[in-house]
Amino acid sequence: MTLKECSDLYLTGTMRINNKGHLELGGMDTIDLAERFKTPLWVIDEKGFRDNCRSYRDAFLEYGDSLVLYASKSLSCTAVCRIIDEEGLGLDVVSGGELYTALRAGFPAEKIFFHGNNKSREEMMIALEAGIGTFVVDNFYELKTLNGLAEEKGIVQNIMLRITPGVEAHTHEYIKTGQIDSKFGFTLTDGQAWDAVLMALNSPNLYFKGLHCHIGSQIFEVESFQHTIELMTEFMTKIKKEAGHELAELNLGGGFGIFYTPGDLPPSPKQWANTIMNHVKSQIEKRGLTMPRVIIEPGRALISPAGITLYTVGADKEVTGIRKYIAVDGGMNDNPRPALYEAKFTALIANKADRKAEETVSIAGKCCESGDMLIWDAKLPKAEAGDILAVFATGAYTYSMSSNYNRIPRPAMVLVNEGNADIIIERETYEDLVRKDKLPKRLEK
Ligand code: LLP
Repeated sequence: MTLKECSDLYLTGTMRINNKGHLELGGMDTIDLAERFKTPLWVIDEKGFRDNCRSYRDAFLEYGDSLVLYASKSLSCTAVCRIIDEEGLGLDVVSGGELYTALRAGFPAEKIFFHGNNKSREEMMIALEAGIGTFVVDNFYELKTLNGLAEEKGIVQNIMLRITPGVEAHTHEYIKTGQIDSKFGFTLTDGQAWDAVLMALNSPNLYFKGLHCHIGSQIFEVESFQHTIELMTEFMTKIKKEAGHELAELNLGGGFGIFYTPGDLPPSPKQWANTIMNHVKSQIEKRGLTMPRVIIEPGRALISPAGITLYTVGADKEVTGIRKYIAVDGGMNDNPRPALYEAKFTALIANKADRKAEETVSIAGKCCESGDMLIWDAKLPKAEAGDILAVFATGAYTYSMSSNYNRIPRPAMVLVNEGNADIIIERETYEDLVRKDKLPKRLEK
């Protein structure tokens, strides 16, 4: 597929090629952005992000009682929490830090769901103090601790139980989570989930509101979700019949796949909503249960397509007869996904966005590590030092997984909309890098 043929797949939201032949988004020329804010630079298309939120929210609401939570692990910062709140979504947090960010942003505590397989007592306390809506309880230790803490506070806390349904989603090994051999949740097949149900029902300071599961990430097959729905509703039936308790909520997790490279053909929000909501309905009716509120928690599908990363091209290197490398001023620090998951991305030269591909080059990062490659064998117009490279679909799991490896400061992030660009995360400085360093007296000079 040529760049032009797949351009409608990766130019999402407000992205377009302007009359200078430059990539533009949010009404901002990316070359101007690179000049003004320097590179590497994460850029988020506000309208694209909001449209993704609305598409999922409205598609599911069309079929009935539902709630979309944004999985803030994909990208958590104050501005993003504000947008999620304005769009009427709930929020999934997995750590004290994500919770703190949400609360600092003024996100309504009752719309926060707290996940995580090893929440500390301190994190649980902070969440209880803040009055967060729901704990998604992952294990027996948490069930016991949380009940004790809620008792101390004299409250009854809403909880869901995270179930490991044993569904194999077709995705990378490291981002699968629903299979039996997983660190997450209560296993369905060996009686553990049932023991958790009994314990939850016998915990006077916990109200057992629903079940949760999450089968993996970057999923394209609707069948994986259908299978999961069957297992989860079967378990809901057992809970009703044998424990006399009917659940009000069913949270099916996130994992909705997106387009990264040609060949990725994700279902649309409407297709997901249609399949998931209808399948829940038919299973619920068949089993004589009351329709629960259906919750989903996408991260990647909401933020990733709305984000791009801009880099400046620097050195190149030709290995005769083998390949040509071009190096950019970022890499695995700002996007560890290729190194971690062999993740693939699409890129173009933002200042030559209207030109045809002329050569195949592999795009290297600047870290002192051979594995720091952003894209292998990209087809691009001839790249020269100073060109601006734009990598698509980098909104999710880039900033949130970034590091200071090699003591490289993290880039800035800007939010663009209707010709405005605002910094939402400042670029780190060298001074930031040494800010937490301490020098023992005996090493002073
Ligand atoms: N809910 C739960 C309980 C999760 O564990 C996750 C992701 C999500 C929702 C959101 O999944 P999403 O819709 O974003 O796929 N770092 C990996 C992805 C790890 C996902 C972990 N859990 C990556 O870069 O691909």
